[in-house]
Amino acid sequence: MGQFFTVDPQIQRLVRRLSTPSLGHRWLEPSAGAGDLVQRKSGDQRPLILVEFDQAHSTRLSQKFPHAVVHHACFFSAPLTVGGFGSIVGNPPYVAWSSFKSRASAELTAYVEQHGFGGKTNLVYPFLDRSARLLASPGELIMVVPKDFASASSAAPLRSYLANHGKFTHWIDCGETKHFPDAQLESLVVFRWEKTGKASTGTVTTQVAQGVMEALAGHWSAHEEVYCGVDRVLFFLPTGLTQRIGPHVVGDFFDVLVSSVTGFDAAFKTPAGLLHLPEATLFQAGAGAPLSFLNTNDIQDLAEVDPLLRAHLLQHETALRARHGADSTRWWQWATIRNAHVTMTSKSKRARIFVLSQTRKDPFCVGKTIGFVGSVYGMFPRIQTKKADLKYAVRILNSALYRDLYRASGLGVDDKFRCSPRSLSMVPFPEPGRWKDLASQLAP
Ligand SMILES: C[S@@+](CC[C@H](N)C(=O)[O-])C[C@H]1O[C@@H](n2cnc3c(N)ncnc32)[C@H](O)[C@@H]1O
Repeated sequence: MGQFFTVDPQIQRLVRRLSTPSLGHRWLEPSAGAGDLVQRKSGDQRPLILVEFDQAHSTRLSQKFPHAVVHHACFFSAPLTVGGFGSIVGNPPYVAWSSFKSRASAELTAYVEQHGFGGKTNLVYPFLDRSARLLASPGELIMVVPKDFASASSAAPLRSYLANHGKFTHWIDCGETKHFPDAQLESLVVFRWEKTGKASTGTVTTQVAQGVMEALAGHWSAHEEVYCGVDRVLFFLPTGLTQRIGPHVVGDFFDVLVSSVTGFDAAFKTPAGLLHLPEATLFQAGAGAPLSFLNTNDIQDLAEVDPLLRAHLLQHETALRARHGADSTRWWQWATIRNAHVTMTSKSKRARIFVLSQTRKDPFCVGKTIGFVGSVYGMFPRIQTKKADLKYAVRILNSALYRDLYRASGLGVDDKFRCSPRSLSMVPFPEPGRWKDLASQLAP
């Protein structure tokens, strides 16, 4: 049930520092655990409400905070007044909805369905959503959560509510620092979001810090909050950049496509000296060098197969027949050819940008290879472009400024870049007429 408690004194101090007792109404911790995040500034007199699902913890909470109202309940069933809280602070459970669903209360299940969270959601997203709705206006949400809610498609309903009802005032990116040593968590963020009751239009300034210590030392930099694309992926752009980039996203100019899935490498990866079709040379991340794969799908009959290649495939006949079905007459064909039509046909002859979707190096490059495999994606221009234009686009996408942008959002952790085609499509990006100028202004 995601029981990792915020015992780290630095996070506790930060939460205390971010909170605003002058916001009237009550103070709520919706998943209080052992009460470690009940961090209030001294003199905060607001009524304290705590919710905890686990009986043993809720009993202890009542003893530890005798003046608090403690609900031993699911947060989605507890009797809480919408608009009744000035501050909501928490570190909600981070659990895949699919693994929790069968144990969820009827109210939680109804909430997930009614608010458009799909089956792939995580419990933390509806928790944040309900917390934001329970706030008064003005009111503040101070949360310690995995950063992926900024870009995950399954958190889109949450972002839509946040974008339409308030603004982020503080965003502390914890990078790879392990604040919960035992938890298998992605990178964390501590944020403060303020409910204003209206959409954040125009330029919204957010104070961004790289790490809890940096924030405590007062090292903030001003960024602009932007929600991009149909999924409204959340980005924090360095001040001034929003205007220079304009309203567009990568997906306005490129189709971002996943690579071929090659299947059985032992049979289809080219051993040295074996004949292979030149168009089957594929670009692979990691090793860096191009790899060759046998593209046997263009061959209709085993008799047409080059003798050297046929002898090689025959060695793998049993395993290949097991994959295709014992009576398959095309057992030698490439077993899994998903997306081969994208990466290896005439479309692939068009210039494109390769994306190493999980790397610490420069993630973008323009390459000569035709197909691509593994964690490499292809960005196929949807507009008329010259190769030189793509090089400018690559310089922008690899620039230090864009690396900061990925890191401040869900597309990176410290210097590690990681994206899905969907999240990459929603990265803010200038229109082609501005690529050359912007590329020349940005530091590599
Ligand atoms: C990640 S722990 C955090 C506890 C505390 N907020 C902290 O930071 O120390 C999440 C807590 O949420 C509780 N919890 C899980 N599902 C809940 C639900 N539906 N309603 C209320 N509490 C829940 C768990 O029992 C657990 O104590």
